[in-house]
Order: sequence, then C-alpha cells, then structure tokens
Amino acid sequence: MAQQTLTITDNRTGKTYELPIADGTIKAMDLRQIRTSAEDFGLMTYDPAFMNTAACRSAITFIDGDKGILEYRGYPIEEIAEHASFLEVAYLLNEGELPNAAQLKKWSDEVRYHTYVHTNIIKFLEGFRYDAHPMGMLLGGVGALSTFYPDAKNIEDPRCRYAQRVRLMSKVPTIAAFCFRNLHGLPYEFPRNDLDYIGNFVNMTFSIGGKHEPNLVLQRALEILLILHADHEQNCSTSAVRAVGSSGVDPFSAISAGIAALYGPLHGGANEAVLRMLDEIGSKDRIPAFIEKVKKGEGRLMGFGHRVYKSYDPRARLIKKVAYDVFAQTGMNPKLEIAIELEQIALKDEYFISRKLYPNVDFYSGLIYQAMGYPTDYFTVLFALGRLPGWLAQWEEMIGDKEQKIARPRQIFTGPARRPYVPLAKRG
Ligand code: ACO
Repeated sequence: MAQQTLTITDNRTGKTYELPIADGTIKAMDLRQIRTSAEDFGLMTYDPAFMNTAACRSAITFIDGDKGILEYRGYPIEEIAEHASFLEVAYLLNEGELPNAAQLKKWSDEVRYHTYVHTNIIKFLEGFRYDAHPMGMLLGGVGALSTFYPDAKNIEDPRCRYAQRVRLMSKVPTIAAFCFRNLHGLPYEFPRNDLDYIGNFVNMTFSIGGKHEPNLVLQRALEILLILHADHEQNCSTSAVRAVGSSGVDPFSAISAGIAALYGPLHGGANEAVLRMLDEIGSKDRIPAFIEKVKKGEGRLMGFGHRVYKSYDPRARLIKKVAYDVFAQTGMNPKLEIAIELEQIALKDEYFISRKLYPNVDFYSGLIYQAMGYPTDYFTVLFALGRLPGWLAQWEEMIGDKEQKIARPRQIFTGPARRPYVPLAKRG
C-alpha cells in the first residue's frame, strides 16, 4: 500500500519534511515545523472562507455534493423525510441513533412540557418596534433566554446540557411564533401542550380568538421542510454556533449567534430572493428574456447553484414534491407555474449544465411557505426552527471533542510596521 504521507521540500531552505496524511487531510499544525530560521513563526495555510479546511471531525451529517447525497447519521434524507417526525430527527441528530418508542415518547413529552417562556420575555419582545424584522426579534429573544437560565453556563455537565437542549427545542418555537404575531399586530397565542410539536407551532402562529382549524397536509409539509433543513454540516450558521460555543458560553448565546448568521441574505435569505425574482419575471412568456439576462451576467437565477452540491440538491427534489402536495390544498399559484417552467428551461440550457447549476433547497421552499400563509420576512425564522436541532447536535459534539479549543484563526498582517505614536498637535 502507498505510504500515507506527504513529502514537502521547502525551496527557501532546501529542507524536506514528511507529514502524515489521515482521512485525506494533513494537519495544519504539522506545517508549523517548516521554518526558515529559529525565530521564524513557521508555515501557515491561508484559507479565507474555509474553502479547503476541515475545522472538526463530525459524525452527524454526510454530504456528497457531486453525487447529491445527504445523510443524517447515515440515514438517507429521502427516507428520513418520508418516514420520520421532526422530533425524531432532532433526537437522531443529537443522540446519534433513532429513538425507540419509549425514548421518543420521553423526548416528545419533555419538549412539549417546556414550551412556556417567562412572562418577562414577553415584555422584552413587546419592546420591539411594530415593524421589527422577526429574525432580529428571534435572535434577541433567544439570546435573552440565557439570562433566565443562569444554570445553562454549566456546560461541562451532560445532564445540564440535555436540559438546555429540551428548553431550546421547546421555547424557540414559542418565541418564533410571538415574532410572527408581532409582525401581524396580533396578541400572542400561548403554547398548547396537548398538541404535537408542529401542531402547537402552527396554532401559535395562526390561531385567532383561540381558534384554528388544523390542515394536516400543510402541517406535514411544514414538518418535512423543517426536517430537510435540520442539519447541513459545517455551514455558516453552524460554524458560528461552534465558534461562539467554543468560548464556553451558554448554549442560548451560542444558538443566537447561529440565528444571526442565518439572518444574512447569502445564507438563510435566498428563498425570499426567489420569490422576488418570480415576481419580477411576472409571466411565463418573459422567462426566455430573463434567462438571457442571467446568461449575460446581469443577475443570477436565484434558487440555483450551491457551494457544495454540484448536482441536484437532494432536498430540492423532495421539496418539489411537497410543493405539489401543498398547492393541491391551497390552489395552484401562478408563481409555481413560472418556477416549474423556469427550472425546465434552465436544466436544458448549456450555461447552467456546464456550470453544474441545479435547483437548490430554496428554489421551492419560499413558494410553499407563502402558500401556507407565512410572509417573506418570516421564511428565515422557519429555516432557523428547522436548523435548531442541527445547531444543538453540533454544539454538543464540539463540547465533547477533546481536540477542540477556543476557535481562533490566524491572520496575515498587512498593516503598517511598528511606528511611534504621533501627538494630536503634530498630526497633519
Ligand atoms: N445563476 C446564474 N449563474 C450562476 C448562479 C446562478 N444562480 N450560480 C452560479 N453561477 C455561475 C457564476 O456566475 C459562475 O460563472 P462563471 O464561471 O462564468 O463566472 C459559476 O456559475 C460559478 O459560480 P460561483 O459564484 O463561483 O459559485 P459558488 O459555489 O461560489 O456559489 C452560490 C454558490 C452562492 C449558491 C451561487 O450559486 C448563487 O449565488 N446562487 C443563487 C443564490 C442562492 O440560491 N443561494 C442559496 C444557496 S442554498 C442555501 O444557502 C440554503
């Protein structure tokens, strides 16, 4: 068998080094021994945006972007989305195995019974302006929860971590629903612990005067969307949760950092952009002109392309099916017809084929959320609800990983060399 090492010759010194290769990776710290002199700091790697740097070992989610494969703890996303409930997925991601019936009941009961938030959280949320963006409210609300649970700082204790996981899984939907009510100027609807996880959330968002007629097809569609968003390995918001959590802060604060990262338009906001694009196109006959504009570099086909998937995003396939189920209930939306035609045209076009641009998870999700009655500003909140179990699982894994320390990248300093302070009177 070939040797699992990398031989490097430093042409500055003529010295040769042999570095071990494990899991297709060399350790960046092994490069530090490569120096030009005893004073030299040692060789570093430069990798803005972590394009080619593994920052952790993880056993949670596997992605093969070329083949379009996504697996949670080894289970294909297609099978999970068809058969599992969201709480089952949350358990799987966090505990590593699917729960048996007793474990699932215990987990679901615990999550169902901690849905209430302290009334001071309500006062805090009421302090936001009438037009506050729900993501700003959510990240503020979840961050504020840490002040109500000072015991959450005890992150070395696995039982304490479990308790915070339950609290976050139960209370984030409540805060998220309150953000929705704020958006509509409606009084807050309190949690109902007799309902299941999704049913309770939907009730808290849509109930008027204590009444809401549940539509089980739409609820299952929402559940599938949350499942499809539950984890996606080391994406921007998950990396934020890990980096902030690596300082030893409580999980409420670490998760609110994840929410902040997701708030950004390059991460959680693309489905909103798809709807704006479909509005801009307006009708099917204007699709060819729009595609030509995109090909000339005047704008992008939103909901297409992915940093990791260079073939069909497996979640997009599943979401397309969900879209049909939802529109069968709510009636066909002209925007869905534009989206389907747009997808068909783009998938046959050499520009998109040669660049391996396929629909991603966001191409249809916004249309579905809109059909369910959620406004565009709220889509990212729904994404956050879905991603929460993934953030928690990755945080838990990070805490237990002995190789991890506080996250602290290096830099290449490009500023001025040392110089004496100039008093104010002598500055030009
Ligand atoms: N429409 C048109 N052209 C595109 C698109 C697109 N959606 N995406 C990429 N391209 C083109 C680029 O112009 C580039 O072409 P060139 O080689 O002629 O210059 C080539 O494809 C490669 O593009 P990059 O930007 O280098 O690809 P990258 O992997 O960095 O970008 C991204 C991935 C950001 C998702 C990109 O495809 C994009 O902007 N898509 C639209 C926005 C979107 O849908 N985002 C959601 C991502 S999924 C999520 O976050 C949950």
